[in-house]
Amino acid sequence: MSAAQIGVTGLAVMGRNLARNLARHGYTVAVHNRSYAKTESLIADHGDEGTFVPSESVEDFVASLERPRKVIVMVKAGGPTDAVIDELVPLLEEGDIVIDAGNAHFPDTIRREAALKEKGLHFVGSGVSGGEEGALLGPSIMPGGSRESYAVLGPILEDISAKVDGVPCCTYVGADGAGHFVKMVHNGIEYADMQLIAEAYDLLKQGLGASAAEIAEIFKSWNEGDLESFLIEITADVLAHVDAETGSAFVDIVLDQAEQKGTGRWTVQNGLDLGVPITGIAEATFARALSGSVPQRAAAVRALPALAEDFHVTDREAFIEDVRLALYASKVVAYSQGFDQIAAASAENDWQIDRGAMARIWRGGCIIRARFLNRITEAYERDVDLPLLLSDEYFTSAVANGVPAWRRVVSQAALAGVPTPAFSSSLSYYDGVRAERLPAALIQAQRDFFGAHTYRRTDKDGTFHTEWSGDRSEQDA
Ligand SMILES: NC(=O)c1ccc[n+]([C@@H]2O[C@H](COP(=O)([O-])OP(=O)(O)OC[C@H]3O[C@@H](n4cnc5c(N)ncnc54)[C@H](OP(=O)(O)O)[C@@H]3O)[C@@H](O)[C@H]2O)c1
Repeated sequence: MSAAQIGVTGLAVMGRNLARNLARHGYTVAVHNRSYAKTESLIADHGDEGTFVPSESVEDFVASLERPRKVIVMVKAGGPTDAVIDELVPLLEEGDIVIDAGNAHFPDTIRREAALKEKGLHFVGSGVSGGEEGALLGPSIMPGGSRESYAVLGPILEDISAKVDGVPCCTYVGADGAGHFVKMVHNGIEYADMQLIAEAYDLLKQGLGASAAEIAEIFKSWNEGDLESFLIEITADVLAHVDAETGSAFVDIVLDQAEQKGTGRWTVQNGLDLGVPITGIAEATFARALSGSVPQRAAAVRALPALAEDFHVTDREAFIEDVRLALYASKVVAYSQGFDQIAAASAENDWQIDRGAMARIWRGGCIIRARFLNRITEAYERDVDLPLLLSDEYFTSAVANGVPAWRRVVSQAALAGVPTPAFSSSLSYYDGVRAERLPAALIQAQRDFFGAHTYRRTDKDGTFHTEWSGDRSEQDA
């Protein structure tokens, strides 16, 4: 039996396709799954695509790998990942590399990396995006862990990743949990992007009274400009789709309750922990939660009057362009916030993440792949320490170009009673972050009043407290 260059354990849809991708690239791939039936079916269905070395037991699987062993674990995140690692570790030897390519929460990755390091093993927590098709045809891959392990593993992962302009959508992200952290933020941005697109669709539907098919055409044309992206492309496809059973537009017969699984929630929780205002991602996550708030919606639909004006759109084309510009500006805000979150976590964990490189590896293979990611890479190439993506010269002018449209759209929506949580919070963020002075001054004064939390002054250094319940004199704190 030939020694396999790399192994995959966990052969559900993702692991199976990743193993096939590796085999198609000429690697000899050891394959294993808890229940042997999946391994057998992979070999029966796709055994001719390359060289696979199937094993029924973990022992045989590990034994079939050349050293240093490279084992990709692609199982259900959480407990199952720990169970598989616990089974593998006693069979591995110093220098071997375990790669968790599932959707682990990054603190778990930090914990696992530390535990395996103690045993002389490398643990690589790697984000993989692109769903089952990406896994097969080329995903975006975000590996963390030691640089030493990347030296061995990187060339293989880069080989099987998506390519844009010949450049792999895979690069070293940073130590321990950095890869899974970046994947988490990627998914958070995906939430924001999807919510913004959904709001744009709703505005076009309610503002123009347009059908799904008409809106599909609008999205199709948008996909030829700055907004060109996988999500805009599939939106046009979905909106054009007709339900075979009813003959209605498919989108009109789908229940309007969206799910929010782990990663969006994790991103928001981490944004709160770091104190980074990721309002676009948070609003997107809460909008899904609101959509699923069935009893509350049932009560509100009966009780709450709209007290709104009719949506007055006098110039159809001008309105469509306004929505397009507002969508683009809101999207830039959501990405800018996501990159701030990466910068904050990178500083806190000493990950030294290259944000421009992250935008580069998201250009292909993943769900948020988009033309404008090139612009983000260029912005961080211009200034690696850029404090705010929005303040880069390209984005400043690209967004400024859309600000009047953005204000018109958000105010029209508010007057007409159309919910636009992500559009409006993004505009509020824009106005907040650019404000010379914010009402936070009043909040600081209130905090000092009831809790002696102290404050700083605009006119001199130091920290102060006012004796609010006494003579209101000011003291150095
Ligand atoms: N689906 C996607 O689009 C996507 C995209 C990116 C990342 N991911 C991540 O990739 C990973 C795999 O996803 P998936 O959709 O292919 O599969 P999945 O449904 O998340 O997991 C099923 C796989 O996990 C194995 N498994 C479950 N519990 C186990 C245990 N205790 N011990 C050993 N093996 C166990 C199953 O083995 P049996 O066959 O024996 O049950 C099966 O191979 C997940 O972490 C997922 O979050 C998925």
